[in-house]
Amino acid sequence: MALFGSNVIGGNTDKLLTEAIRGAEEAGCTVERLDVVSLNLSGCRQIYHCVDKVHCVIQDEAEQYHTMLKEADGIIIATPVMTYGIPGQLKSFMDRCQPFYMAKYHRNNSFISDEHAKIRKTLFICISGMNTPEVFIGPILTVKAFCQIIDTKYFDELLQNDMDNVKKIETKPDVMKAAYEKGRALGEAITKARG
Ligand SMILES: Cc1cc2nc3c(=O)[nH]c(=O)nc-3n(C[C@H](O)[C@H](O)[C@H](O)COP(=O)(O)O)c2cc1C
Repeated sequence: MALFGSNVIGGNTDKLLTEAIRGAEEAGCTVERLDVVSLNLSGCRQIYHCVDKVHCVIQDEAEQYHTMLKEADGIIIATPVMTYGIPGQLKSFMDRCQPFYMAKYHRNNSFISDEHAKIRKTLFICISGMNTPEVFIGPILTVKAFCQIIDTKYFDELLQNDMDNVKKIETKPDVMKAAYEKGRALGEAITKARG
């Protein structure tokens, strides 16, 4: 499953994600891409319905994609940095995975079996406009927490800063290649883990 966090179809994040998906597919995986900004979803309302219920009380498109998230062997998350974090819609999608959190940590009965958790792996692709050392700290912390909540290993990352100067990611063939190779490595690791 690929989660795309940008609004810009055909933009730089999109190009890197497309390469990573190509790599994963060439390693034998089937990838379903979800453009998270296109989803009709609301944020978590903190009413704690999921403390003892499997499903979120809000029956919108975020909830519908939980099944896909549960079944996925691998996840690629590709997003730009926004305000030192990840874009709001993608963050809301992650927050809405609180039913995973409650099942795992509150009821000690994760949606993901131990066997499946050993297979599940996530590749994180993130780009930023600025070139500051701390620009990816927020996004990485969020994505690592998300990986723990939904029981998937934080397998690898591709971080590209300075996009305000780089402008077009295709002027960085090494980064495009890295996206393909990291997607492929993810796919190969999953295929191997499946046995
Ligand atoms: C609302 C908004 C907030 C942003 N905040 C940051 C930021 O805090 N730090 C940063 O380095 N870049 C920031 N950016 C720049 C984007 O990360 C950058 O332009 C990125 O290349 C966009 O990729 P995309 O066109 O593929 O979506 C922001 C962009 C937008 C639209």
